[in-house]
Amino acid sequence: MKHVDIKKLLDNATEYVGKNVTVCGWVRTARDSKAVAFIELNDGTCLKNIQLIIDKDKIDAEALKNAMAVGTSLKIEGDYIASPKNGYEVQVTDLVVLGTCPADFPLQKKRHTVEFLRTIPHLRVRTRYFESVFAVRSELAQAVHRYFAQNGYKYVHAPIITGSDCEGAGEMFRVTTHDFETEFKTADEYYANDFFGKKAGLTVSAQLEGEIAAMGLGKIYTFGPTFRAEHSNTPRHLAEFWHIEPEVSFAEIDDIIEIAEDFIKYIIKEVMANCPDELEFFNQWVEKGLIDKLQTVVSNDFARLSYTDAIEVLKKSGKEFKYPVEWGAGLQTEHEKYLADEYFGKPVFIVDYPADIKSFYMKQNADGKTVAATDLLVPGLGEIIGGSEREWDMEKLLAAMAKRGMPTEGYEEYLDTRKFGSVPHSGFGLGFDRMIMYITGVQNIRDTLMYPRTVGSL
Ligand code: 4AD
Repeated sequence: MKHVDIKKLLDNATEYVGKNVTVCGWVRTARDSKAVAFIELNDGTCLKNIQLIIDKDKIDAEALKNAMAVGTSLKIEGDYIASPKNGYEVQVTDLVVLGTCPADFPLQKKRHTVEFLRTIPHLRVRTRYFESVFAVRSELAQAVHRYFAQNGYKYVHAPIITGSDCEGAGEMFRVTTHDFETEFKTADEYYANDFFGKKAGLTVSAQLEGEIAAMGLGKIYTFGPTFRAEHSNTPRHLAEFWHIEPEVSFAEIDDIIEIAEDFIKYIIKEVMANCPDELEFFNQWVEKGLIDKLQTVVSNDFARLSYTDAIEVLKKSGKEFKYPVEWGAGLQTEHEKYLADEYFGKPVFIVDYPADIKSFYMKQNADGKTVAATDLLVPGLGEIIGGSEREWDMEKLLAAMAKRGMPTEGYEEYLDTRKFGSVPHSGFGLGFDRMIMYITGVQNIRDTLMYPRTVGSL
């Protein structure tokens, strides 16, 4: 269909003004006076609408009647003109209704609650709110790829169906083709007769494959969906989330922290540069002060604190926490929020966590108690990055697996990386959907992607 995008029309106004143009889109608002009708049309290419001016005498009455309904899709032709009030508008010379939109179209009002919009995921893309979310989401994804491409990383595709549980937290979704009824007596027999001849699941992290790739390619990253059967019904958890996982050879914990900070600042700056209208929208309607917050984040150093010192800070805070603060216990959301929101008021890397609460693959520190792990906590949200230096000494890695009761079966190839020319290496995982929350101020992770998958909801 020959037509011009509304974004192109607005961005290159001087080129088009005075010309006859064809535009397509959906009616966002419509009002009329005696002789003239006004329609705001949006085609999804940008947040702004184009105003159509319709001389009622010149357009077929039936077509115009249909065109006045919010949600109707139109193809129009008209003269592109500068308007003293609206910047630019189109004086319509021909109007074709592509698809009518009956009165039960749910998006009649200008503003709806996000809770209501969550009940119509197939239609919410037609609101300014979600148009902005998806524009930022798209830009952020492109910025991620640009960052790694510019810095010499290879983009690696790790498998989604896998036999190994990277995090060892027992949160894997199973993949099976067996029907409900089975005649198998034991689990082993059941899995042996399944599609892959063994137990299979959806990946909880691409890290193990990422480490293998980095052992030849040097610097890699993965960016794909990750699945966790976590029963965490919170505004920050999805059962299917998008995960960015760089893995860097010849890098120790300090190196990967530096990379993570540089990366976060770069992708925020890119969104600020390329989505100004959307950030303006979020700044006005979703999180007041959002743009200032982002500006401060990209212009200042992130804080850094050891887990042990964090425990001291929390103990001395004078706060009454729901979960007790003691060395050896995981940091709960309330603790993370205190550290990032109140104590530092900016992003903070917590480092050197107790080995017992972290995964088997993390580099064991000389103190015998902690591992070279880091989480990045941000104000208003908590953890967005989890990463570490990896244990590259075979004996120590095997000991950590044994301590957790993990079999070596299924990890043979991973262990080979420690056998054949092992090197210090580090990596991290950034939850892409959480990053969207942070950049937009959106409060619920369910509002950062098209179809959120959460416990009890598909
Ligand atoms: O801290 P996590 O579990 O770390 C890993 O998976 C490592 N293997 C990463 C690595 O070193 N390559 O998860 C990393 C990040 C978290 O900080 C969080 O942002 C996000 O992934 N995340 C989730 N996001 C949405 N819903 C969930 N259920 C999430 N679980 C983790």
